[in-house]
Formats: sequence, structure tokens, C-alpha cells
Amino acid sequence: MTDPQAEIGIIGGSGLYSLLEDSHEVYPDTPYGKAVAPLTIGELAGRRVAFLPRHGRHHQYAPHLINYRANMWSLQKAGVTQVIGVGAVGSLTPSVPPGSLVVPDQIVDRTTSRAQTYFDCPNVAHTPFADPYCPAGRRTALQAADKTGWPPVDGGTQVVIEGPRFSTRAESQWYAAQGWTIIGMTAHPEAVLARELGLCYTPLSLVTDLDAGIETGEGVTQEEVMQAFAGNLGRLRDVLDELVALMPGERDCGCALLKPGVL
Ligand code: ADE
Repeated sequence: MTDPQAEIGIIGGSGLYSLLEDSHEVYPDTPYGKAVAPLTIGELAGRRVAFLPRHGRHHQYAPHLINYRANMWSLQKAGVTQVIGVGAVGSLTPSVPPGSLVVPDQIVDRTTSRAQTYFDCPNVAHTPFADPYCPAGRRTALQAADKTGWPPVDGGTQVVIEGPRFSTRAESQWYAAQGWTIIGMTAHPEAVLARELGLCYTPLSLVTDLDAGIETGEGVTQEEVMQAFAGNLGRLRDVLDELVALMPGERDCGCALLKPGVL
């Protein structure tokens, strides 16, 4: 690995670029090709942070076509040990309305076509993933959101669908009936790849809509999601600022120990 350039990675929408001061770009090669965009590395709250726009600079990669492996690898190559994954999600329950900030604690994978491991042949390994997110990172995210005056929802299950289409009403009602809380398209496989690399992963999920099975209207639209995300960008940036400031430097959470030894 080259010299660490950042300790914290933020993956999110392009509206978050301007968070960083004194930034420069790096675009490392990885065994999986290039990430969807160069990393922008700079300072936030006195910490070194690498930002990666999940869907590419021009939002040109659909959720199922994102090179998740190269994305996570490039963060690791820049020295990142803490990854914060910011995402727009739908809600599967009226008790978590649009505008809520959720720090989920579980994932259900309903994706179908994504490369989701670094452990292909001949390096076979089976990674513990019972609790997919970093416990210390989650605690810190909850604390950070509270501190900014945006009380977060602590826990909940995020179902990750393949997309890029939204769910039918029946699919959505079925997910809700399982007791799952929110729905998105990109939280998997980021967290498991982070775990395989021994990185901590902390989710910050912004609820932009009620999913099709919950609301009575036409169902979710892309415009609705984009508008709601843009409308909450300011307070999301405030939470990220606090979260980065509070994020533990020394890791005693155990995430690094869950990395299988053969990579
Ligand atoms: N992202 C934002 N809202 C969503 C929804 N309702 N379903 C899937 N992904 C989403």
C-alpha cells in the first residue's frame, strides 16, 4: 500500500463533493479495474477524508453496474479504515416517514447479479456477517445526528433490491410484511466487501419516500427521490461533519479481526 492519504471514506451522492477542503484527486488501479470515479481526498473536521461518488461523477452507473469491488478496494488503497455509506432509501413503514435519518443494523440481500466478494477461486473464504455494520461507527453516527438536532432512527433492516426499477406494490408489501424497515439499491455489497477488507462500514440512510406498498398514489418516482435528497442535503452534511469529527481514530470494534486471512 502507498502512504495512507485518508482515514475515513465517504461514499455518497455527488452533492457531497464540496464537503472537503484543500482536496486533490487520486485514481488508483485495483485488481478489479478502476473505481467509478477518482477519489477526492481532503480535510473535513480536521480529519483526512476520501470522497467517492457512488454512481460516478455524472451519475452514469446504475446500481447493478457499479464496480463495487474496485470502489472499496480503491478506498482501502488510499488508507481508509472507516467507510461511511450515505444512501437514499424508501420507507416500508409510515412510522419512518420521508425526511427520517436511519442508521440500520441489518441487511437483506435481494440483489441478483452483483460481484459481491473478493474471495473467488482460488482464495475461498467465508466471512462473518451476522452484524453487517461497525458497532462503534453506528453508535457514533447516532450520537452525531443527535448532536445536530436530527434525532435518528436507531436500527432497522434495509432490504437491498437489484433495481434500477422501483418495486411493485406487491413486492413492497411483502418486504413490509417481513418487518423490514427501509429499501434501497446500493447498500449491498458495499458492507460485505468492507468486511472482507477488514474495514469498518457505517450506514447513513436518508428516507426520501414511502415505498409503493405503503403509499396510495402512483408509487415512487426518481424525481421524488432526487428532490427529497436535495432538500435534506444541508442537514446531512452537518451530520457528516459531526460524524467525521467524532469517528474513533483507534479501532477497538473488532471489524478488522473479522477479515478472513487469505486476501
Ligand atoms: N431509493 C430511494 N427510494 C427507494 C425506494 N423506494 N426503493 C428502492 N430504492 C430507493
